[in-house]
This record gives sequence, C-alpha cells and structure tokens, in this order.
Amino acid sequence: MIHIDYSNMLAPTVTGGVPQTDWADADTLFAGAHADFERRRKAGELGFLDLPGDSALHKQSTDYAARTRGKFDDVVVLGIGGSALGPVALRTALRKPYWNMLDAGERDMRPRLHVLDNLDPTTISALLALVRLERTLFVVTSKSGGTAETMAQYLVVRETLEKERLAVREHVVFVTDPKKGALRPVANAEKIPALDIPANVGGRFSVLCPVGMLPAALVGIDTTKLLAGASEMAQLCTGSELRKNPAAVFATLQYLADVKAGKHIHVLMPYSDALRDCASWFVQLWAESLGKIRPSDKKSVGPTPLASLGATDQHSQVQLFMEGTADKTITLISAPPRDRDVTIPKLHQDIPELAYLGGHALGEVLDVERRATAGALARRGRPNMTIQLDAVDAWHVGALMMLLEAATIYAGALYGVNPLDQPGVELGKNFTYAIMGRPGSDEVKKEWDQLPKPDPRYRV
Ligand code: PA5
Repeated sequence: MIHIDYSNMLAPTVTGGVPQTDWADADTLFAGAHADFERRRKAGELGFLDLPGDSALHKQSTDYAARTRGKFDDVVVLGIGGSALGPVALRTALRKPYWNMLDAGERDMRPRLHVLDNLDPTTISALLALVRLERTLFVVTSKSGGTAETMAQYLVVRETLEKERLAVREHVVFVTDPKKGALRPVANAEKIPALDIPANVGGRFSVLCPVGMLPAALVGIDTTKLLAGASEMAQLCTGSELRKNPAAVFATLQYLADVKAGKHIHVLMPYSDALRDCASWFVQLWAESLGKIRPSDKKSVGPTPLASLGATDQHSQVQLFMEGTADKTITLISAPPRDRDVTIPKLHQDIPELAYLGGHALGEVLDVERRATAGALARRGRPNMTIQLDAVDAWHVGALMMLLEAATIYAGALYGVNPLDQPGVELGKNFTYAIMGRPGSDEVKKEWDQLPKPDPRYRV
C-alpha cells in the first residue's frame, strides 16, 4: 500500500509549516476542490481516471507487444513532454537498472528502450547509428499529432528507414488521438499501426494509456498490475473526505504551504534510484498543470516543482533546503530496495569512521539517511512529508502515479486554474510554426515580427 506521513508539515511541530488553524479549516476548502473535481469528472474531462478500467485500450498495447515479441532489439520512443516522461519513468522504476546496457538474456529477450525527447541532432544521429534498424521499432507518440519536435524526428526516422529499404509499417507504430492530428491519416493511408490516446486524456496525464503502456508492455513490464494499482488508488483518491484521500491530503497541504506559509517550491525527493525519473515526471505534471494565470483575478500563480534524489542530493541541494530561503516543502519518498539488499562487510574494524557501517545493509543506511534528513529538515522549521511505498513494483508505481495525477487536479481547483490546459507553451509553439512558415501561422507571424529583436547595444 501507499501511505503519506505528514506529521512534519504542520506548525507548530515544524515552525515553518502549515498553521494548524488552516489545516483544521481545510475540510471546507477541500470540499470546493472536490466539487470541482467531480464537475470535471462528470463532464468527461478526467479521462485518466478511467484508464485503469479500459481493458480494450489496454489490450491495444498488450496485443501489439505480443504480436511483435522477439522482432526488435531496440524500441525508440519519439515524443516530448507528457509523451516521453512517463515511458522513461516506467522503464527506470520497473526494469532492471542499466536496462539498455544488459545483454538480451539478462533482458529476458525484451528490447532496450530509448526515449528521444529532444531535437538535438547529435543525440538523434548517434542513436540511429547505434541501433540495427532492421531490429528496431520506432514508437511515434503525439496526442496532437502535430508537435514540431516529434514530427521532425518522425520525418528523419522515416527517411532513414526508407533509405535502408525497410517497410515503414513494420518499424513504426503511432500513438495518437483517435481522430485528430497529422498522424492518423498517414496511419490510415499506409496501414501503419496506430494506438489510441483517448480524446479526454492530455499528454501529462497519459502514462496509463498506450503512451506509457505500449513501451512498458514491449519491455515486459506487468501493465496489468500497474493498472490494478492505479485503479485501487483512483478509488481512494476520488473520495470526498479530505483526511482519507491521499491525493487530497497531498494537494491541500502543498497548496496551504504555498499560500499560507510562503512555500512556493515543492520538492519531490525519492530515496530510491528506481523512482528518480518518477520525480521528473511529477515535475512536468505539477509545473505544466498549475503554473498559470488565474482567470478570476489575472494573477500568476502556481508552485515551482523540483526533482531531487536521496541520498545523492544530500550532498548537493539539501544545504539549500536546510538553510536557504525558507520557501520549500520537501516530499520524501521511502521505499524498500527493489531487489535484494546488500550487506556492508565488517572490514577495518579498527577505524571508527568505517567500523560502524559493517554489518548493516545499504538499503537500511539509505533509509536511515531519509529519516535523518526528514528530522533535520523538521528541526530547522522546513516542512516535509513522506510518501511511503511498501514496495517498488508495478502495482505501487501505478498507484503512485494515479495519486499524483489526482492530486494535480485537486491542486488546480485550489489554485483556481485549469490543470488540463497549457496556454503558456502554446505561444512559443506558435511562434516556432510562424518562423518555420507552417501554413495558417500568418497572424502569429505578425505578432512575432512586432516583438523587440536582439539589440547590439546589449551584447557583450
Ligand atoms: O502535457 C502536455 O500536454 C504536453 O507536455 C505534451 O505532452 C507535449 O507538448 C507533447 O504534445 P503531443 O503529445 O501533442 O505531441
């Protein structure tokens, strides 16, 4: 199961925490957020909640993976933002460490999984040179079917395949909107397999549909268990009682810490290498959903999320968390080691700095460090909470992702913003289209042309 311990979030136990009075009054605050959540749910906007129960959609991924079993050594996801971060998080969490460096036997004859989420030509050229194209599958993932970065990657890959005289439909699969976008007509015309991203599931909420499930199924992750964990968590996270709903507790406390205690930066810090990319996935979810202009008063709102890793970042960011500007909450994630623990040998018993470690396990020390950090933060008045996972497995990772997705919707309601749109990134995308001469961009091009251009006086 997953539990949240928020003892260290509240003042006066932790001096900089959420005032007890605000927490005591939070039920009314949350009731409004829950009503908004329910309104969106009934309007069919929260498609991600239905994904665990959509067995037909799940089957699209498992069928494709079964049909192509043994055909590929490498799977390359082409996608960005919500289309990329979920697959990376799942691979890191649920496949063996160093997955892409293992030989086929160690990978249970499953393919390596690469995610090309940027346009950097050096990376793309290097990857295309590295893989054996005749044994490679490219998963082109784009909800809109029009994102410049992903479309550019697709064009490069397609030409590369054609030059090698490889059949595109054998080496490319699309994951996209069932109807809209540039990829669907290509799929229909050329019989390229295409899996669905439901219309009511946005990029950063899409990890439990084929966006995440197809790559996961291809590399042998137990997607059924993953969805089972998500399903059970969805039940808990739709409840109307604040103190029994983990997503509600997370969202409400983070919100109150921001607006009542000035904690504008929300850190997620797993003490588990397997979960490090889940923190990056969360950063996008929280940032792109909540950093908005609030329609009611035109005020810019939203916390700044930050990914951290315990114990590694104890030697980097924790100094800032402890003594820097007191504007952060830190959410630690505790989890037992995914596989067997490693006992530290009893060597150098005559050297005190080494002797005390002997006989303990590495996972035990990591967990002691987490507890010590949580305590030290609390002692310095730095609010923190701990999400406790009983295991790092498909069930718990599915549940964790559902918890954080649901929390994001509640937080959107608390901040008074729409967590499902991203108007702030549209302008940059549209300027790119205008500069590149994409048809239909004339109006935006005029806006672009009116912007101040680099001034030589301010160049050094
Ligand atoms: O969360 C989002 O909506 C975005 O991050 C998108 O995932 C990202 O912009 C990619 O969009 P698309 O899937 O349409 O190519």
